Amino acid sequence: MRRKLIAGNWKMNGLRDPGVALARKLADRARAAGPLGYDLLICPPAPLLIPVGEALRGSAIGLGGQDCHNERAGAHTGDISAEMLEDAGCGYVLVGHSERRADHGESDATVRAKAEAARAAGLIPIVCVGESAEERTAGRALAVIERQLSHSLPRAGEPSGLVIAYEPVWAIGTGRTATPGDVAEAHAHIRALLADLLGEAAAGALRILYGGSVKPGNAAELLAVAGVDGALVGGASLDAEHFWAIGAACP
Ligand code: 13P
Repeated sequence: MRRKLIAGNWKMNGLRDPGVALARKLADRARAAGPLGYDLLICPPAPLLIPVGEALRGSAIGLGGQDCHNERAGAHTGDISAEMLEDAGCGYVLVGHSERRADHGESDATVRAKAEAARAAGLIPIVCVGESAEERTAGRALAVIERQLSHSLPRAGEPSGLVIAYEPVWAIGTGRTATPGDVAEAHAHIRALLADLLGEAAAGALRILYGGSVKPGNAAELLAVAGVDGALVGGASLDAEHFWAIGAACP
């Protein structure tokens, strides 16, 4: 039984005010709710990791980074290592988000190196994959996911130390969600590929999240799709009530 994971990716949004207040509000709700049947995670911008981590302390909500460098340390101005994220209190890090792939030209090989660096630092990488609108229209969605997965997964390690996020690029920030049928097809394809790459047992244990315009209004339907083990939430994670409602929609 895979426990669902609801992860909020704040992207490049949030100053200390109101970012820390948002984290505090969620932490208060989580403490009041007692043990949850699913995992919650917040990935704020790097300057907010420490204050948001402090706000979340004593709650069941985890902290994650949005990206890391593939090297441990050195002359890489502006970059953040996985070890630094771990040191700041993170348990997870997103790697290969489509916005990183597009804005920073990250290749599958780079994403793999980052995922491996994350694991070496004791973090769980959330490896993001997903096709563009053009690729879907051309009927290449599953082939693109296959290429990304086979070249960007870390090569070794336990399945519990890895999460996959399927985020079709055309559904990110657009209000357009993939249909439950599209999501079921993509997730089944991903799980079959993982079985080829990592073995049946590992593939069965791995969590595969869906991301792309997940909102309180569609969360229950998407989270009920077979093979969907949680959500990676952008815009709606910036509102405490909306993010909480998405978690509460876990079946
Ligand atoms: P939206 O939920 O804003 O579409 O963003 C999804 C996403 O990219 C999360 O990583």
